[in-house]
Amino acid sequence: MKIDGVAYRSVWVDLDDGWSVRIFDQTRLPWSVEILRLTNEGEVAHAIRSMQVRGAPLIGAVAAFGLALALRRDASDETLESVAAMLGATRPTAINLRWALARMLAELRPVPPARRAEAAYAAADAIAEDDVETCRAIGQHGLPLLQAIAARKPGKPINVLTHCNTGWIATVDYGTALSVIYQAHDAGLPVHVWVDETRPRNQGSALTAWELGKHGVPHTVIADNAGGHLMQHGEVDIVLVGTDRVTRQGDVANKIGTYLKALAAHDNKVPFWVALPHSTLDMSVRDGLREIPIEERAAEEVLTVTGRTEDGRVETVRTAAPGSAGANPAFDVTPARLVTGLITERGRCDASEAGLLKLYPEFAAGKDAA
Ligand code: MRU
Repeated sequence: MKIDGVAYRSVWVDLDDGWSVRIFDQTRLPWSVEILRLTNEGEVAHAIRSMQVRGAPLIGAVAAFGLALALRRDASDETLESVAAMLGATRPTAINLRWALARMLAELRPVPPARRAEAAYAAADAIAEDDVETCRAIGQHGLPLLQAIAARKPGKPINVLTHCNTGWIATVDYGTALSVIYQAHDAGLPVHVWVDETRPRNQGSALTAWELGKHGVPHTVIADNAGGHLMQHGEVDIVLVGTDRVTRQGDVANKIGTYLKALAAHDNKVPFWVALPHSTLDMSVRDGLREIPIEERAAEEVLTVTGRTEDGRVETVRTAAPGSAGANPAFDVTPARLVTGLITERGRCDASEAGLLKLYPEFAAGKDAA
């Protein structure tokens, strides 16, 4: 994807700078575009925890590069195992993090320490490349959904509602749900996006709106509570979201508030589709409500809001009454029965075990990793 005409990915290695890892500092967007240089596993862990880097597929890829950075310093078995465990514990809900690290471990355990660092960069690079191709294919498989809506209402905008940020900045490139939107826009469809602001961290109003704006996609930021009203008045043709983990029975964990959108969509017969790469599938769990760990973040994120003042300063101000406590569950689970379907790199399917197994038959025998 491009920023002001320059093509970027969301993570890359700077070969001229000691093989350091580069990411955009997403806590600075949309106010300034700042590139961070990560040189060791501690910096990578901090970037993931503090959400300088975020989005389920991207934290997996960045963690893989973090392991490669650690192995340049010390390629022993002990470092391989302990750094993978440390990076895997940085955020609990997105399965992509553990998927990427498990894939790294499986590739690197048999490699002799003398060749491990080099092999680790190659393995991390393969994960990043896989994500790019996967996200591109998700967009292709989602496109017919928007083409069908366009055919039903010629000359009128296709109104898509989305939650959180599922764009190229949340993946290595293209995005998941936003990949569908970008490809529809690029194909000439008149897409308009309702962007949920996505409190408490505002990934919608800060990141999704920024990305869509840079790509020229018409969009409107709305309060998180507005979606139901818009659906009741026929202003939403489809809800498209991403996910941090999909279970064997098709339950979907995603940014807090997604479940409420699914309920409103169900009540108003608005299709609710979820876009995911294979790295987001967790076939080892069934019941998302009981089995997916939900990240609890700092209450301060709820009690405050960060933005730019008229004179250009980025400031955090308190919006809650002094002394009030806050609670901050960062994700929720939408049961499969509220999900119209899943969009993957292999095609679309029902949000069910049977649907997933049609696309991913390799899991039929009870295997739990793609
Ligand atoms: O807490 P975040 O910003 O990392 O949460 C991200 C999301 O919930 C996205 O919707 C999700 O990762 C799926 S798409 C990339």
